[in-house]
Amino acid sequence: MTFIVKPLSINDLTAMKQRGEKITCLTAYDASFGALIDRTGIDMMLVGDSLGMTMQGHTTTLPVTIRDMVYHARCVSRARQRAFVVADLPFMSYPCAATAAANAAKLMQAGGVQMVKLEGARLDIVSFLVQQGIPVCGHLGLLPQHINQLGSYAVQGKEPAAADKILADALSLQQAGAALLVLECVPATLAKAIASQLHIPVIGIGAGIDCDGQVLVLQDMLNISGGKRPRFVKDFMQEAGTVAGAILAYHNAVKQGAFPAAEHSF
Ligand code: KIV
Repeated sequence: MTFIVKPLSINDLTAMKQRGEKITCLTAYDASFGALIDRTGIDMMLVGDSLGMTMQGHTTTLPVTIRDMVYHARCVSRARQRAFVVADLPFMSYPCAATAAANAAKLMQAGGVQMVKLEGARLDIVSFLVQQGIPVCGHLGLLPQHINQLGSYAVQGKEPAAADKILADALSLQQAGAALLVLECVPATLAKAIASQLHIPVIGIGAGIDCDGQVLVLQDMLNISGGKRPRFVKDFMQEAGTVAGAILAYHNAVKQGAFPAAEHSF
């Protein structure tokens, strides 16, 4: 007998938030790792534009094109049975609402993803995409596509005015129709305030324990990225010893509220 596993929907993720169950997410860029992550029970896979670094060897996400994103999204979607799959709209693929919609459609139709993610409080674009039936994940805090304006990958929202702006942007994105929010590298206290005020799930990376879920770049948590490991990353490979074991250890640690610890937070 063949069992068909029904993929998780945004409603399932929202229900997890409502019942206080943590959402697990890892980045995935290909079919082999996508299948492994999916089989381990991770709730969500993000085809992140971090593939510019992990897959393509660039130093930033800026060179990644929509064509690259569609290719990797398609590879991951083919392997997916259960996980909810989100893909990034890459740098300069959403300069206006019409272009954003055309590129988001490529990610959904050719890439097979269930939702697209974009950086910043681009409210006009978010509400236009949502009107077209395209589910949107916002991304606030550290915005890697803005690295040349930011000057460094530093923690965002440390000053009260900056924290207030991120909270206000989060509420506006929800109001514009975003159904998920990624918060990157912000103080844990700010992330806690945002997650408690929003009804949509908030997925943190370097944003402390009180987010509704956690995401890490796969290569970072396997400790194969090279270079200095950021504070918010734990090397799950060290104790687990195998890739599948490391992914399962991450999944269990997030579900049990054991990751991120204070040492991984700001
Ligand atoms: O591209 C990516 O991997 C991301 C994560 C850092 C959240 O956006």
